[in-house]
Amino acid sequence: MTPQLTEFFEFLRFPSISTDSRHREDVRKCAGYLVEKFNRMGLKPELHETPGHPIIVARSEVKPGRPTVLIYGHYDVQPVDPVSEWSTPPFEPTLVGDKIYCRGATDNKGQHFSHILGVEETLKAHGELPVNVIFLLEGEEEIGSPNLAPFLEMHKDSLKCDVCAVSDTGMIGPGIPTMTYGLRGIACLEFKIHGPTLDLHSGVYGGAVPNPATMVARLVSTLHNEFGKVQIPGFYDSVVDLEPWERAMWAALPDGNAATIAETGVHGLWGEAGYTALEQRWGRPTAEVNGIGGGYQGEGSKTVIPREAMAKLSFRLVPDQNPQEILALAAAHLKAHCPDSCRIEVELGHYGPAYVMDPHSAHGKAAQRALQRAFSGEPRLIREGGSIPIIQAIKNILGVDSLLLGLALPDCQIHAPNESFTVSNFEGGIRLNRALLEELAG
Ligand code: BES
Ligand code: ZN
Repeated sequence: MTPQLTEFFEFLRFPSISTDSRHREDVRKCAGYLVEKFNRMGLKPELHETPGHPIIVARSEVKPGRPTVLIYGHYDVQPVDPVSEWSTPPFEPTLVGDKIYCRGATDNKGQHFSHILGVEETLKAHGELPVNVIFLLEGEEEIGSPNLAPFLEMHKDSLKCDVCAVSDTGMIGPGIPTMTYGLRGIACLEFKIHGPTLDLHSGVYGGAVPNPATMVARLVSTLHNEFGKVQIPGFYDSVVDLEPWERAMWAALPDGNAATIAETGVHGLWGEAGYTALEQRWGRPTAEVNGIGGGYQGEGSKTVIPREAMAKLSFRLVPDQNPQEILALAAAHLKAHCPDSCRIEVELGHYGPAYVMDPHSAHGKAAQRALQRAFSGEPRLIREGGSIPIIQAIKNILGVDSLLLGLALPDCQIHAPNESFTVSNFEGGIRLNRALLEELAG
């Protein structure tokens, strides 16, 4: 084990699950670990309290005249459920061949820690960096970054920068340099159908009263037509179509339909007709059911009409869909389809818009040169389906683009059991950071 891997493993061991209040202290300890690391590097860290989890800012010594690069990452991680499906303990980093298994290994601890180590190596070798660097690391990305945009507003002068660099996206395959120039946005909601005032005997009352579980299923089935088109009126009104050059560029990538089947283990694809899987995943909006429930879930049968049932939905958005408008349209659609015999309750959740930048801008080109130096081969330009809502806020508030230079591999299982990060990409990320700072220095 190299000293760098030893440190990375220490960082991984904090169960910094932001959504789970039982882990509040663990999230804080993880932030504390970063503070110590930056102190050891001489980067003068600041720990900023928020109503939620702390935000860490660390700055290199300012050299006037040099560009400033903001490096964003998140040290919070997703929950580990279902824990029984992990082959190794979720918070005990385990090295098997080239892979390090641990929750957060890829998303996002490994990816931003490699940037920290890249900066450390450059400082050790040269005593200074070719650019000014500000690290901005938050502990709430996985819950929609509720406190980061206000923080950016409040500190926009001290966070003034020329460009932002983020490794929190994917690479299309091992060793293939990939630049993501767009992300989908997101909008979440939850709805509940209330029926009878108590659970009922399904033989005594069934047939005469509405069943909330059935109604949830009926409502969910109104979301799409048989061709995979979302049926919420107005949903596509402000969608910007994919450009012909993007469709051509993605068509030249390895077969995305086959890869999607291979990565997910599905028997076949199902999505909006007229688009390839990569187009559906990266450039088209969706409606997804993330959770659905109601009624008896235990062993055997129980003849009951549940008094209520629910579903959690999220919509992935593309330019120029407005997340708040989409939530309003979706809520109206659900209410319009709920029969009078039931009561529907809709609770709106977190949201953030899609992001797209010009990959051929001067910063975009510098990023591609850095990718080429760190990994070999021509960088691939993609958009991705995941969301990092703060990226558009960084654009709006700080006025800069984000270079999305991902190190997540298609089989890294982020958000799922047995998440992993490869040692190759951990080392690649360190090389990428050094090359990127040099290329951005001009
Ligand atoms: N790193 C991911 C986003 C991502 C994954 C981008 C893969 C591109 C490729 C990020 O940590 C994440 O999971 N974001 C959440 C958003 C959030 C508001 C819960 C997401 O996309 O579900
Ligand atoms: Zn994530």
